[in-house]
Amino acid sequence: MEHSEQNQTSDSKIVNKTDVLWDFQVSFFAMSRLVSFPWTFLEKDLECNKSSDLISDILKLTCLHSLCRKFPPSVRYRKLFLSELIRRQEVAGCDPLDELYDALAEVVGAQDTTECYKSYLLPSGDAVSLLENVALISEGTTGLVTWEAALYLAEWALDHQDTFTGRTVLELGSGAGLTGITICRSCSPKRYVFSDCHHRVLQKLRDNVRLNGLSETTASTVGVEEMDWTTATEEQIAQIGADIVIAADVVYDPDVVESLVELLSKILRSSSPEVFICSTIRNQETYGGFKQQLEEAGIRHHVITGAVSQVFPYSRVSAIEIIKLFR
Ligand SMILES: C[S@@+](CC[C@H](N)C(=O)[O-])C[C@H]1O[C@@H](n2cnc3c(N)ncnc32)[C@H](O)[C@@H]1O
Repeated sequence: MEHSEQNQTSDSKIVNKTDVLWDFQVSFFAMSRLVSFPWTFLEKDLECNKSSDLISDILKLTCLHSLCRKFPPSVRYRKLFLSELIRRQEVAGCDPLDELYDALAEVVGAQDTTECYKSYLLPSGDAVSLLENVALISEGTTGLVTWEAALYLAEWALDHQDTFTGRTVLELGSGAGLTGITICRSCSPKRYVFSDCHHRVLQKLRDNVRLNGLSETTASTVGVEEMDWTTATEEQIAQIGADIVIAADVVYDPDVVESLVELLSKILRSSSPEVFICSTIRNQETYGGFKQQLEEAGIRHHVITGAVSQVFPYSRVSAIEIIKLFR
């Protein structure tokens, strides 16, 4: 096999050109950190072939792709990405590629904004595109961006589609909407109710639901509800009638844990739905405190084990855990 078709990455995995192009595309649209791109393959290809063909292919699948025209990653990100491609090409001494410089010229003149699109590519090739804020915390909330636990829970759902098919799902603290939109797209729930408490998050969530072709007006399928854990009533919960309740990255602050546990108690008292909570364990004390409060409320849990297929690119440095709750 040609060197340009097969290569060895820094982590010694044998990869081929198709996989590398897919990695570039998936990482670019999710705005992954540039260090996580498969640069080693590109470097070796440029070195061996002294041709910019691979860069041209990468460009077509990223900045010049129709998805980028419709839902562009931030201006700053595209600038950094293109500059890195140019740097790699120049270091390798390949012929300059006009379209690379044209693409850079286009973003250099563009105004940077506080919002950007991130697109998360599903194994089907279909994309979930979300309007997110550039900053992780803004407008007094953490809910305007997608967190790793949301991506992990969506991956778990893709591996366990039957858990959601034909069922009514309630999601707590939905944020930008990645998990729910992925489940609606791939798992055919009977009804999916997104919820959050923050008015800007709810606004963005509604926009993102619409952006992905899910309509709230088809009331039988998708809903976006204001639900604050501190004030949600048993009636509100009963009205939704969820068979399954999920939440991602809702155990991030000791201050929110008490109201969350109270709400989970009400939910489990209502009609015993299946409840799954997915958390990034950033701080053992906060996470341990959550589990202790569950226990004190008479809620048992077990940790969901087993490998989850990696679909989305995100940092897997912090441990992420899904627990199932029982009365
Ligand atoms: C870290 S974000 C996680 C968002 C999303 N699930 C994800 O993982 O990308 C936490 C979410 O919980 C929501 N939240 C915090 N306190 C809440 C409360 N008392 N009631 C309802 N939602 C709340 C926030 O608005 C925010 O959207």
